[in-house]
Amino acid sequence: MRKPVIAGNWKMYKTLSQAVDTALALKPLVANANHCDVVIAPVFTAIKTVADRLEGSNIRVAGQDCSTETEEGAHTGEVMASMLRDVGARHVIVGHSERRQFYSETDETVNKKTHAGIKSGLTVIMCVGETLDQREQGSAESVVSQQLSGGLSGLTASDLDRIIVAYEPVWAIGTGRTATPEQAQEMHAFIRRVFAERHSAAAAEALRILYGGSVKPDNIEGLMKQADIDGALVGGASLKAESFAEIVNYRR
Ligand code: 13P
Repeated sequence: MRKPVIAGNWKMYKTLSQAVDTALALKPLVANANHCDVVIAPVFTAIKTVADRLEGSNIRVAGQDCSTETEEGAHTGEVMASMLRDVGARHVIVGHSERRQFYSETDETVNKKTHAGIKSGLTVIMCVGETLDQREQGSAESVVSQQLSGGLSGLTASDLDRIIVAYEPVWAIGTGRTATPEQAQEMHAFIRRVFAERHSAAAAEALRILYGGSVKPDNIEGLMKQADIDGALVGGASLKAESFAEIVNYRR
């Protein structure tokens, strides 16, 4: 059985005190959520304090990105995966579509970041997803397949235990236009098939695949009923403790 993961990506929102307030408000609301792993990803500057304040709770903290570099050095503005681990992060998101779109990240960059995260003992949440144009042209599957093989290139069988894939169709992010549970399921099943072909049936069976894109308290239940949807990566609705907790505590 795959344990679901409900992760909140706070993107570039919240000062340190707002991040701490939200995390502390969330803590009692999800304290009984043993059915899933709960993860929040604040901005870099809040990770240490939020992680400290959540110590002993069932909420894990993630970085939203990390450097491709794995040795300290002259890389102004970069943060290494091992530095995230050092301040209490246990996960890192890589390859988010906003990074691909606005910061020109390629599959090669994403692959380096994936390796960096794994090397540092982090669980990597690697994002894939097609744009609206790509979907309309009928190339959604080939785009996602390419992102998967590029992003996961060179990983060993044991590395795969530390990988979570998040399918986030770009057209559903922040638009209020979520993929239907059936559309999401179709792509998740495809991702699992690709994973089985590239790696192994066992690794594919164990792989947790999250859906992201306008996940809200009122659509999580339908998404989670799908056989290949193993959780959610939530943006906007994760910013408020109450709505994120409703998503975590979806009706099962
Ligand atoms: P929204 O939930 O705001 O659509 O964002 C999704 C997302 O990008 C999570 O990483």
